[in-house]
Amino acid sequence: MSAFSASDFNSKRYSSSRPSYPSEFYKIVDEYHEGDRKVLVDVGCGPGTATLQIAEKLKTFDRIIGSDLSATMIKTANAIREDSPDKYKNVSFEISPSDSFEFLGADSADKQKIDMITAVECVHWFDFDKFQRSVHANLRKDGTIAIWGYADPIFPDYPEFDDLMNDVPYGKETLGPYWEQPGRSRLRNMLKDFTLDPKRFHHIQLSYFHATDVRDLEKLRQHKEKLLLIRKQITLLEFAEYVRTWSAYHQWKQDPKNKDKQDVADWFIEESLRRRPELTVNTKIEVVWNTFYKLGKRI
Ligand SMILES: C[S@@+](CC[C@H](N)C(=O)[O-])C[C@H]1O[C@@H](n2cnc3c(N)ncnc32)[C@H](O)[C@@H]1O
Repeated sequence: MSAFSASDFNSKRYSSSRPSYPSEFYKIVDEYHEGDRKVLVDVGCGPGTATLQIAEKLKTFDRIIGSDLSATMIKTANAIREDSPDKYKNVSFEISPSDSFEFLGADSADKQKIDMITAVECVHWFDFDKFQRSVHANLRKDGTIAIWGYADPIFPDYPEFDDLMNDVPYGKETLGPYWEQPGRSRLRNMLKDFTLDPKRFHHIQLSYFHATDVRDLEKLRQHKEKLLLIRKQITLLEFAEYVRTWSAYHQWKQDPKNKDKQDVADWFIEESLRRRPELTVNTKIEVVWNTFYKLGKRI
């Protein structure tokens, strides 16, 4: 996935502007997991977004390793960890593709030594069959695979922004042509076509949540499973910074033909204020994301 691996990708902004995952969700993962907690690997860890939360919010694992293809991301992850060495003393990071666990050493890689593998907001970039084969080769019996992610937020109290939430990322004249495919379409579809193989995993749990459901209590009640609810109070300025973390924004910026165009994140702010002039760029408003998760235990 080239944008996140680019040496000029702003991984620090990614780290500060991406949403974090709620404690309630880590409780779901904690309750699901059974047995030992020696080693957890968080693949596609980026700047350690989930890895460092896992270290704080999940019941303790002896070792937590974040891995990612991108040296830029791993550099930022290491810098954040080094800022709080005591808090993250069981955490380390490795540059590695998601389907390789060679960094564990020849005695452990592909020898069913891992208790939990997490893959957060990244599986849409992977060769999924290769990835799940590798997960199967590395998780111990009944170890947990936990995949989750989010996309396509809305401002629930501002339905008049809904078309903007489509036009900014997917408009033909905005970021639409700049997403790497098929990754983005897979994420938009919440990985529904990626099935954990029932010959490899049991007790599979799935959840798909549409942010628009928060506008409709009846739809919320229809969910029987516990939800991954990512909601945040955010200003328009902060949301624009979030837009700037998208890989498509990075690619849009690189394209010389956009050199003299208005920054698409600034356009989002301008359009929002035009629609709701009573807001300022610093008014906090709620944003909610579509989310999904898939949990499984190795057979
Ligand atoms: C959107 S970021 C997600 C980062 C983090 N997990 C989070 O929750 O925000 C996706 C990450 O997946 C990484 N990635 C993409 N393809 C990969 C692959 N085949 N192997 C390892 N990492 C990969 C990218 O470098 C990027 O850091």
